[in-house]
Amino acid sequence: MKKGKRAEKKRYERPQIVRHHSGFMNKFGRGSFQTPLREIDGVPVKKLIAEYGSPLFVISESALLKKFREAKRAFGPRYPKTTFAWSYKTNYLRAVCSVLHREGAWAEVVSPLEYEMARRLGVPGDKILFNGPAKTAESLSQAARDGARVHADHFDELHLLEKAAASLGRKLPVGIRVNLDAGIYPAWDRFGFNLESGQALEAARRIDASRTLTLAGLHCHLGTYILDASAYRRATVKLLDFAALLEAESGNGLSWLDMGGGFASRNTLHASYLPGENLIPSLHDYAAAVTEPLLERYASQDAAPILFLESGRAIVDECATLLTSVLAAKRLASGKRALVVDAGVNALFTAFWYKHELALTEDSTSFMEDTAVYGPLCMAIDIVRESVMLPPLTPGQILAVRNVGAYNMSQWLQFIHARPAVVMISEAGKPELVRERETLESMTGPERLPERLKGAGENIGG
Ligand SMILES: Cc1ncc(COP(=O)(O)O)c(C=O)c1O
Repeated sequence: MKKGKRAEKKRYERPQIVRHHSGFMNKFGRGSFQTPLREIDGVPVKKLIAEYGSPLFVISESALLKKFREAKRAFGPRYPKTTFAWSYKTNYLRAVCSVLHREGAWAEVVSPLEYEMARRLGVPGDKILFNGPAKTAESLSQAARDGARVHADHFDELHLLEKAAASLGRKLPVGIRVNLDAGIYPAWDRFGFNLESGQALEAARRIDASRTLTLAGLHCHLGTYILDASAYRRATVKLLDFAALLEAESGNGLSWLDMGGGFASRNTLHASYLPGENLIPSLHDYAAAVTEPLLERYASQDAAPILFLESGRAIVDECATLLTSVLAAKRLASGKRALVVDAGVNALFTAFWYKHELALTEDSTSFMEDTAVYGPLCMAIDIVRESVMLPPLTPGQILAVRNVGAYNMSQWLQFIHARPAVVMISEAGKPELVRERETLESMTGPERLPERLKGAGENIGG
């Protein structure tokens, strides 16, 4: 050894006696970590982290387009009058919404704020579906003027809609959200008017009796991550029966039917024993369930209603990856291995629902050990994976959390750490920054510190 140059210190870990799970029978094998995810759409993961920092969300535009086109292909040939409206809350990054709008998706929004987002992205009012339980009088007036399709959630909103329509000088076509028993429990009966109790019929009759409104559409969103495609068949049949009853009463046919979102993505729920990808119906299963009852009811497409779908997670979940770096490896009191990584539930809200699939990004030993993966928050709830087989990892190594495109980049929390940057890899394979990492300035920007409190930190107790 040359003088002055110190030998690199070897990492040593004190031996532990831990119960081994590697002998567990598992018909899916343990292969998920064997092929590291070295690059995303041809861009090396290490390069992405070096350029944009860690943690980092990476969206593949190609994967997003592929999934959206797949969804359109599942429905369009079966029922040509199908239109997809992008569920903004699932991921309202402007780049994501814009990719989908460019592909022909309308906007589905559930708040005045989301309505404004869609308008600012240039979406014409008459290509917006306006849902949600908390629309304001002003937003309803704007929607009425813009020609947006509003789905009323409750009787108080019908009252606001009547007022909004009064100034138009013509009758305003509206829809109602209907909740019903399609065999999915607990049913989301807090949204819209209930079918079985007669509430939906009461709402329809009230609209029919109104001087300013006419009932043109029915909307139903059964819930999310619905694993039973046949629930959509039951719901569609019930809504078409309801529409037939209304038509018999009022003479008005249905202009549109919105069957909501809820199609599952490849992720695995915490309660699930089998991996999600082995359980989820295909987009074709969902499409058959929705369109077959429609085709049975309407002999020709001319008389048939437009079919809207507001799929969120099934479209966007699988197109995004969260890259996160190992900060530390440690042992719990039980001897179990634990990792601390730099992205937790603050960035990955969906870790509360899913056993997210983790991928290594470089070669490793094949010695796997049951590991807990914790995020960087100083909070016991911050768990990325409670238990996952991983090889030994050291600080600086990168893990990839797969299928994170839905409900993270909108539900993430600004809590203890800044929210990560988001990069979209274009169809041409070029990484483009679509959201900067938060900074202290961007976080505290909206705050106002009263003059009398300024400088307090420099003068503690003084
Ligand atoms: C009214 C409405 N439409 C569409 C969606 C999108 O649902 P998903 O992401 O399950 O497809 C939601 C989400 O819950 C919703 O509330």
